[in-house]
Amino acid sequence: MSSKRIVLSSDHAALALRAKIAEHVTSLGWEVADIGPTTSESTHYPLHGAAAAKQVAAGEARFGIILCGTGQGIMMAANKVKGIRCGVCSDAFSARMIRQHNDANMLSIGARVVGEDLALDIVDAFLTAEFESGRHQTRVEMIE
Ligand code: RB5
Repeated sequence: MSSKRIVLSSDHAALALRAKIAEHVTSLGWEVADIGPTTSESTHYPLHGAAAAKQVAAGEARFGIILCGTGQGIMMAANKVKGIRCGVCSDAFSARMIRQHNDANMLSIGARVVGEDLALDIVDAFLTAEFESGRHQTRVEMIE
């Protein structure tokens, strides 16, 4: 697994924000696997959430960042893949906490919920926080 690889996907509601996030995380030194979709034609978020989640679960990417209109539907699909812990975040505090306490390996953002600058703050918080382990490890194991 590349420890600096992030897989990105979305549905049609989040193409522009996904492109901004791809550019941002690339500038931070992450290798980005942007698995689409590439057109704004209406599509089905479960397909894209599952595709990204499978890469993370298989160890092909350290993290996944997924987006749809609300971030909710695509998160639900990702969390159906064994080994995935994905949270929807609309604030940087939650993004930090899902890494520190929940060892989240995927982040979901609602492109119709947050603006671009806030979304990039959320991504930064998620990527820079570390899992605290200890008592949180027991709870993460309980999720699994
Ligand atoms: C698509 O219109 C919308 O339903 C989708 O982007 C997402 O918000 C679902 O959770």
